[in-house]
Amino acid sequence: MPDDALVPALAALTRGDRRAAADAARRAHDADGDPLARALADHLQDPAGASVYDQPAAFAAFIDGGGNIPLYQAVSRALATAHDRHRVRTLLDVGCGDGRALVPALHTSGHRPAVVDLLDPSPALLGAAVRRMADEAPAITARPWATTAQAFTATDLHEQTWDLVQATFALQSLPADERTSVLTALRPHTRHLLVVEFDVPDLPHDSTENLRSLATRYRQGLREYTTDRDLVARGFLMPVLTGQLLPAAPGTARTNDEQPAPAWAAQVADAGYQHVRVDRLHDYWSSPAFVLTARGGA
Ligand SMILES: C[S@@+](CC[C@H](N)C(=O)[O-])C[C@H]1O[C@@H](n2cnc3c(N)ncnc32)[C@H](O)[C@@H]1O
Repeated sequence: MPDDALVPALAALTRGDRRAAADAARRAHDADGDPLARALADHLQDPAGASVYDQPAAFAAFIDGGGNIPLYQAVSRALATAHDRHRVRTLLDVGCGDGRALVPALHTSGHRPAVVDLLDPSPALLGAAVRRMADEAPAITARPWATTAQAFTATDLHEQTWDLVQATFALQSLPADERTSVLTALRPHTRHLLVVEFDVPDLPHDSTENLRSLATRYRQGLREYTTDRDLVARGFLMPVLTGQLLPAAPGTARTNDEQPAPAWAAQVADAGYQHVRVDRLHDYWSSPAFVLTARGGA
């Protein structure tokens, strides 16, 4: 195929033209039966609304299936290794979700924290994380914070310090400038920082190459789901895909603000962290995942 038939639909999204995007996606589906084109057209006709993380069933189906299973195993192993290496007693998990990366790590690490601060703005996911901790790691004190990282770090953190602040696939939810402020505010309060994110291709946001690459990668992602495909597409993959392309409406943020691994390293260094190191973690359909570790200021 000389070009991807879905590119015109994605290009219309970058212009904020949902109707043109829906029409173009429908045409792409009619032309070659592309399931991604159909999912996009359906979503644009009837967007699920609200934040993707307010629909835990879709997010749970997404991370319970496909390439997420080996990905999450790799993430939990990396967390456990860090907990052991730094003998973590106090831990803050920023954007902990339902705790599926964190809690298995607590099982496998030889060194368990005494206190874990769980922070997430989604009450549904935070509630699930608290329940998971109570069921699977009852000896560890879990302190839930139902708020955003921005609001949390805007409060006075007093003398609070953590051995480790970790964030897995969560900092991509923050706009880049707010992320720098959050990282900067946390630095004096943590000995170590660990971030897991995806090393997305270094392509200009609105370029045809980027749109083609997104179409290819999301098509692969969708293909990994069979029984839950509609739920995952509608409740998670399509909102994330469109959320990163549509111009942000005034007063709202993009669902995802990703960047290549070197840009993450530079951002963490700009926030004042030392010894910033990036290691490849796992190959995943959307992009390879990496683990970034750095020394904080506490
Ligand atoms: C892809 S999920 C990752 C969840 C979990 N860390 C994991 O690895 O499974 C992104 C998480 O970031 C949370 N999130 C979104 N915006 C946030 C913000 N401004 N501050 C902190 N967390 C946020 C979402 O509620 C969601 O739980």
